[in-house]
Amino acid sequence: MALVTTTEMFKKAYEGGYAIGAFNINNMEIVQAITEAASELRSPVILQVSAGARKYAKPAYLMALADAAIKDTGIDMALHLDHGADFEICKSCIDNGFTSVMIDASKYSLEENIEITKKVVDYAHERGVVVEAELGKLAGIEDDVHVADDDAMYTDPNDVEEFVTKTNVDSLAIAIGTSHGAYKFKGEPRLRFDILEEVSRRLPGFPIVLHGASSVVPELVDEINACGGNLPGAKGVPEEMLRKAASMAVCKINIDSDIRLAMTAGIRRVLKEKPEVFDPRGYLTVARDEVKKMVAHKIEYVLGSAGKL
Ligand code: G3H
Ligand code: 13P
Ligand code: ZN
Repeated sequence: MALVTTTEMFKKAYEGGYAIGAFNINNMEIVQAITEAASELRSPVILQVSAGARKYAKPAYLMALADAAIKDTGIDMALHLDHGADFEICKSCIDNGFTSVMIDASKYSLEENIEITKKVVDYAHERGVVVEAELGKLAGIEDDVHVADDDAMYTDPNDVEEFVTKTNVDSLAIAIGTSHGAYKFKGEPRLRFDILEEVSRRLPGFPIVLHGASSVVPELVDEINACGGNLPGAKGVPEEMLRKAASMAVCKINIDSDIRLAMTAGIRRVLKEKPEVFDPRGYLTVARDEVKKMVAHKIEYVLGSAGKL
């Protein structure tokens, strides 16, 4: 068993009308929770690492955790760099065993985005690594904006053929109204499925990626708030919208906030109910179980990837 690219995963997901979960990893408990859920449900899975995760846990630890998860579960998985900001971070991950990287040059002009993405693709492909890029603007990464409700932020379908042809990128993240974090919509959740449809019409068979796709699970938010937290108005993408996206061209669905919420809910519950607990294993065991349950639910009922390994 080994780290694998997403090529085969995406091909099967596209044809089968389901999506692969890409879960952000930051520590051992999170890695165990995700990979145990995937293994038990025989689901393909992508572990993804942000720049923030590299800073928090250090690259060597994250790589060792991914390797340990493969040994422990006996399943193949992909290791992906999330939101690589420049060529250098992508190169570092490619050189150190990642099987997939994202170059996120979406804040630049189309021409610059093409140029930067192509440089990463050329380097990656020579080394058997696949690349995800982004067109359009997703709120919540390098700013304090959490709600994407500005028309200028959506991906323009007119750009996608030129972008993919000129860069030779392997998958494309598009902006259709999702955003990062726990506050995604001011009013009713709304996604621009018309844009997704038009993009897939222009790029037949090409894997599309959905960022900012946590549901901000209401039960977890309620539990956090009931146990001393303060997350008023937290709102995510309804599950039925994710199911619809997965049945269309979306092959990769990114989830981080729901992991954070599940861990926090577990930890808060234990500390509230058992104030005498001070062994971290006491609350981290519960937190890990909460994450595993949440991931298993996504695999089975939202992504549709159970049994597709
Ligand atoms: O896309 C953003 C992910 O949730 C990663 O967040 O940069 O705080 O690790 P982070
Ligand atoms: P969420 O904040 O919705 O979990 O999105 C995570 C993500 O897109 C990571 O790239
Ligand atoms: Zn993202």
